[in-house]
Amino acid sequence: MQYVMKGGIPLTGEVTIGGAKNAALGLLCAAIMTDDTVIIDNLPDVRDTNMLLEALCEIGAYVRRLNRHSVEICGKTVRTVRADSDNIRKIRASYYLMGALLGKYKKAEIALPGGCNIGSRPIDQHLKGFRALNASADIEFGMAVASSDHLTGGHIYLDVVSVGATINIMLAAALADGSTILENAAKEPHVVDVANMLNSMGANIKGAGTDIIRIKGVPRLHGTEYSVIPDQIEAGTFMLAAAVTQGDVTVKNVIPKHLEAISSKLMEIGCKVIEYDDAVRVICDHRPNHTDVKTLPYPGFPTDMQPQMTVALSIAEGTSIVTESVFESRFRYVNELTRMGATIKVVEGSAAVIKGVNRLTGAEVAAPDLRAGAALVLAGLGAEGYTVVTQIEFIQRGYEGFAEKLAGLGAQISMVEDDKEIMKFKLQVV
Ligand code: UD1
Repeated sequence: MQYVMKGGIPLTGEVTIGGAKNAALGLLCAAIMTDDTVIIDNLPDVRDTNMLLEALCEIGAYVRRLNRHSVEICGKTVRTVRADSDNIRKIRASYYLMGALLGKYKKAEIALPGGCNIGSRPIDQHLKGFRALNASADIEFGMAVASSDHLTGGHIYLDVVSVGATINIMLAAALADGSTILENAAKEPHVVDVANMLNSMGANIKGAGTDIIRIKGVPRLHGTEYSVIPDQIEAGTFMLAAAVTQGDVTVKNVIPKHLEAISSKLMEIGCKVIEYDDAVRVICDHRPNHTDVKTLPYPGFPTDMQPQMTVALSIAEGTSIVTESVFESRFRYVNELTRMGATIKVVEGSAAVIKGVNRLTGAEVAAPDLRAGAALVLAGLGAEGYTVVTQIEFIQRGYEGFAEKLAGLGAQISMVEDDKEIMKFKLQVV
């Protein structure tokens, strides 16, 4: 599938943001840690969460969709701690099954995760954490294998701030015997969300959202009903869409606090940002100004918003520098953007020097990963003429109804299968 679009229309109106994909992946794995029923609402209907739900079924969990955004899960029927299906291999966050299964069954064998190709993405910190909980944890024959005769609390200092390791260790430690202290923990909103859901299941986790998380293990967890937090990155992507198309977009159903790093950069480049209780409006009535951006763990500027920001800066007045400090190969989309007329030089893989151009021009480009794919769509909407973005399966991993939501803001965009449908689109739009 591909997206075809005609750019040049300022996006205006309101868009409702769904539940956070990255939080949902942790919550779905946490849900099987009890034998009771767990109901999760505000679940985004995206490829990654759907593949993980299938993977949960494959290991025996009971999964019933109550509606598009709500699911009932029961882990009582889990029959194996070995997860190595295609679904598992395709999503990065399937590694949360390690923490969940190790905590509950004291054993887990998970095929090494895939996900977006944005760097080497090791899991050494996850394994180090499990070892500190008195488990053996290694990579064997392409599987991450962990087990323990007696899972106990431990003291862990993460060498790098890792969202995945923080959540995974929290999951396992929630059902360990004794107390765990996790230092240099990630502070992302989805870390807090997973801790909140575990606590609502009877866990005792304090300090999530700060550098130090303290977990007192409990013997068992119980059922709960929980609603996923709004997706910070989906919201940020639509906020940047306003900047790129010089539009006026209100993102609804968000937690403005989680968007502060993005809001403040948008203000720096000359956008007006108005915060409401659960919405943020971005107005951009002129070409963006240049600025410098460095990605950092939360509350810094999110690496998952780096490509979208780079697109906005590619049409800014003046020269900007974007430094990527979280992942090592996150500028793979720059070649595609250059084909649309952007002037960007990547220095040693970790910084992009962007000389703003007056306008981008439409081209056929390929989405190299999830967030870069979304960024290329924004570029196409801001560009003159037609743009085709291929490999949109990446985008579908994390954005629900992306084209529909953009069309709701006035974008001329359609999801098409082949050249014939692209021709049809071109004939239909004015
Ligand atoms: C999560 C998000 C991803 C986001 C990233 C950073 C999910 C499913 N994915 O990915 O969208 O871009 O956080 O906000 O939530 N590292 C190690 N060893 C480890 C673990 C990580 O060296 O054991 C390094 C990574 O290579 C990377 C950095 O730590 O350089 C941060 O990675 P991490 O926060 O773990 O990212 P993910 O959890 O994979």
